[in-house]
Amino acid sequence: MSGNNNDRYLTFALGKGRLANKALELFEQIGIPCEEMKDKDSRKLIFVNEEQKCRFFLSKGPDVPTYVEYGAADIGIVGKDTILEENRRVFEVLDLGFGKCRMCVCGPLSAKEKLQHRERIRVASKYPVIARDYFHNVKHQTVDIIKLNGSVELGPIVGLSDVIVDIVETGSTLKENGLTVLEEICPLSARMIVNQVSMKMEYERISRIMQDLKKVLEQN
Ligand code: PRP
Repeated sequence: MSGNNNDRYLTFALGKGRLANKALELFEQIGIPCEEMKDKDSRKLIFVNEEQKCRFFLSKGPDVPTYVEYGAADIGIVGKDTILEENRRVFEVLDLGFGKCRMCVCGPLSAKEKLQHRERIRVASKYPVIARDYFHNVKHQTVDIIKLNGSVELGPIVGLSDVIVDIVETGSTLKENGLTVLEEICPLSARMIVNQVSMKMEYERISRIMQDLKKVLEQN
């Protein structure tokens, strides 16, 4: 990306963790490096690329769509799971193709029958919105959703729930805990989201970034 005369900073919100590192690599490949962010010991929250008039910040994944909806960030990089769960008014503009995994209903094999017979089961999940939407609107099955904040696989093991709705990547967490995928809800990957006003006001810069990213993604 070439330098520009626009004085306004374009702000990027990145979800902390695996996705952020991969996203930074991509931005570097399209000529928007953010060297400062690579310093793992830094406690700084916001990082600036003066030359490109861009700034980056890291936040908890579920907060990324919030920053983007309110325009505190023009662009966000976040998982499709978080986009579905948070349901914010943002434009989802690009599938970045990394962070591929699946949202699934998982549990012990014995729970399969309960799913087939549409029993009123308990479903534990970090994603209550996705879980509710799937059971109520897709399967038309009445269930009780229990919100958890992590290590969701514990649900069926300790008897909190019959099944879970969770992300499956390699499947090893399930396997190590004697659980299995029972139904697949949808595929997931990292996406680029854009604030709806920024898309109009900064159309040139943002569409340029999208084009450059698409090119890099095709080459990778
Ligand atoms: C996620 C997800 C599963 C695991 C799936 O958890 O919730 O537990 O990764 O990956 P796998 O199929 O490759 O084993 P995460 O590591 O984000 O932690 P959490 O349990 O605290 O949500």
